[in-house]
Amino acid sequence: MSKFRILFVCLGNICRSPMAETIMRAKVAERGLSDSVVIDSAGIIGYHQGEPADSRMRSFAFQRGYHIEGVSRPITTDDFYNFDVIVGMDSSNVRDINKRQPADATARVALAAQYVSSEEDVPDPYYGGAAGFTLVIDMLEKICDAIIEREL
Ligand code: 4NP
Repeated sequence: MSKFRILFVCLGNICRSPMAETIMRAKVAERGLSDSVVIDSAGIIGYHQGEPADSRMRSFAFQRGYHIEGVSRPITTDDFYNFDVIVGMDSSNVRDINKRQPADATARVALAAQYVSSEEDVPDPYYGGAAGFTLVIDMLEKICDAIIEREL
């Protein structure tokens, strides 16, 4: 069976989408499905390219038992052919993803909250306090459960 390939996208690829990638990896591993799924993340902007995830995001993740690995990269044209679904964290991300989408792209584009039947954005925690980071983790745990339910 071919693997299900999912790419999480946020603005900087240092807070929300690396967190989504990490939570998804953990949940997929818990279910023994790691070999059936390809999981990655990317940013709309390349400003933080090559940097590890934001230290605050990594610290809040660690408190919840998650270890964020990898470094930031911007989304590329190849991503639209190499993934089955590209999941934007907020509606602005989805608009930016759609703008970059080639006409013959094979990936579907989705808003993260759609998986939990909501229009709600996963809010950018970058300029806020602790509550924003905790909220990101809470929302993404529910969203990743729903993605697994729906797609795997
Ligand atoms: P993210 O958060 O999109 O969740 O990674 C942000 C990180 C960096 C910036 C904005 C949002 N920034 O403007 O540098």
